[in-house]
Amino acid sequence: MQDRPPENRSPDSRRRDWLAAIDSAADLAALGALDVALLGKTGEVTELVRGVARLPREERPAAGRAANELKVALETAVAARRAVLERSALDAALSSTGFDPSEPPLVDGPQPGVRIPLRRPRGTLHPITIVRDELVDLFTSMGFTWQDGPEIETDWFNFEALNIPADHPARDTQDTFWLDDGNLLRTHTSPVQIRSMLRFPPPLKVIVPGRCFRAETVDASHEHSFYQMEGLVVDEGVSTANLIHTMKTCLRVILERDVTVRLRPGFFPFVEPGFELDVNCPFCAGQGCSVCKHSGWIEILPCGMVHPNVLRAGGIDPERFTGFAFGMGLQRVVMLRYGIDDIRLFMGGDLRFLSQFDGVAR
Ligand code: PHE
Repeated sequence: MQDRPPENRSPDSRRRDWLAAIDSAADLAALGALDVALLGKTGEVTELVRGVARLPREERPAAGRAANELKVALETAVAARRAVLERSALDAALSSTGFDPSEPPLVDGPQPGVRIPLRRPRGTLHPITIVRDELVDLFTSMGFTWQDGPEIETDWFNFEALNIPADHPARDTQDTFWLDDGNLLRTHTSPVQIRSMLRFPPPLKVIVPGRCFRAETVDASHEHSFYQMEGLVVDEGVSTANLIHTMKTCLRVILERDVTVRLRPGFFPFVEPGFELDVNCPFCAGQGCSVCKHSGWIEILPCGMVHPNVLRAGGIDPERFTGFAFGMGLQRVVMLRYGIDDIRLFMGGDLRFLSQFDGVAR
């Protein structure tokens, strides 16, 4: 080195000076020169290491360790500084050519002269799909099969067979879109209860995730197109206890916590008795908050024991078999799971909303 530190300086301050010189080397050439002067064949530090052998025997171990540690520290500093300088040298070389390595690769587009990015942004699963898939996994693991049904239904499957005759007031709460041919857009997934009973003899365990439609005025909690997941179990000796157990298992998995449920009477013509199943509010642990409207409970799904008339419509003998059914509003469960406060977000197609679910599927 040109300006050698005077010999009377402490090893500590010499070391500090050397490290500072390395860290401030202006370019690769300056760093190379420093490297040779310190760590080269006849470099200062190399000499220092060599000098250890000439010390009195008892001083050698400690001096050797100190010299080696110094050498390693300087080598590490040189390597780190070299990486920084090489990186900026590369950046400088690239910017002088006008080449931008962060630009996505382009390929020829459909029209001549149009170039389009080779890689398109990756999409994400919709939150309803994520929760539906989890529910399907859970229920199939409990022996349920996934059934589909048509979105365009007949009056008979959607209403009549479910114990809702033409003049029944329950029809008013399920105002739907009628087609010119007398068919309708299904108002719930319950018609697939009948379709399943007609296809499969009991014991029967099915789930039916699917889209439903109602002539609703859209607001923060109502949509004209929405998703339900129907469940139906028919066998000998099926009871309300089976229903409660199945619902608790399902809610525990989907809400990722232990849940307490309660049943209130609820009226649906196709179940008897019918219930509204509430879960203790997962946001405040039942203490009362704005989500549960300070009641500590959230209404989560209607359910009940299948009405004998419905079993009959499905060709099943109600004297021998009983069953339970539930109709889960998928959006509602998704909203609870992720704390979403407006159902319109699901249909809005807003990528800022949707991209938040990237990578959350289990
Ligand atoms: N189909 C009913 C609805 O959409 C829900 C339900 C299903 C209730 C099964 C009881 C049993 O309102």
